Amino acid sequence: AKICVLISGNGSNLQAMIDAIGAGKLNARIVGVISNRPDAYGLERARQASIDAYCIDHTTFADRESFDHALQAQIDALAPDVVALAGYMRILTPAFVDHFSGKLLNIHPSLLPKYKGLHTHQRAIDNGDTEHGVSVHFVTPELDGGPVIIQSRVPVFEDDTAEELAQRVQEQERRIYPLVLHWYCSGRLTMNDNKAVLDNEIL
Ligand code: GRF
Repeated sequence: AKICVLISGNGSNLQAMIDAIGAGKLNARIVGVISNRPDAYGLERARQASIDAYCIDHTTFADRESFDHALQAQIDALAPDVVALAGYMRILTPAFVDHFSGKLLNIHPSLLPKYKGLHTHQRAIDNGDTEHGVSVHFVTPELDGGPVIIQSRVPVFEDDTAEELAQRVQEQERRIYPLVLHWYCSGRLTMNDNKAVLDNEIL
C-alpha cells in the first residue's frame, strides 16, 4: 500500500512510520512526504530515508483554497492509498477533506473529544487531569472531530511540565500511528457512515 505523509515540523510520527516499515511491522511504502513549511526537519528525515520530499509553502499562496488545491494536486500525483497527517498544523478546507474522505488520517495529542485544537498538554495540566493521551482518527471537515480509531492513555504527574507530558504522549504516538496504518493498509480499517470500522466491527 502507498502512504503519503503530511508534516509541518519535527516529523517524529513520520520517523515512527519509516522505522515500522524498516522493521517489517508495516507493509507499505511512503510514496511522498509533503510539508507546508520549508524548514520542517521531517523533510530531512524523508531525504535520509530516500523518500521523495516536497514543500508546498502555504505562505506563497493567496488563500487557503488555492493552497489546498495545490496540495491536493501533488497528493493525487502520488496516488496514495492513504494520506496521514502527522504533526500537520494547517486547517484543511472541507473540499480537500471531502476529496480524501475515508483515506485521510490524523493524530491528535489528546483523548478526544477533550482538548481539540492546540496546547493540549498544558491544558490537561492546568485542568488538573490525572490522565491524558493521544487519538488517531479519520479526518472529517470538523477540526479534530472525525471518528476516533484508537486512543492511548498516559498518567499526568503532579509536577509534570507540558514538555515532559508531551514526551510521554509521543512515546505512545510512535506506537499507535504505525499500528493504525498497518490496519488500514491491510484492508481491515475503513470509515463507514462517519464511523471507524475495524474487522467489520464499529469502533
Ligand atoms: C506531535 O506531538 C503530535 O501529537 C502532533 O504534532 C506534534 C509534532 O508531531 N500532531 P511530529 O513530531 O512533527 O510528528
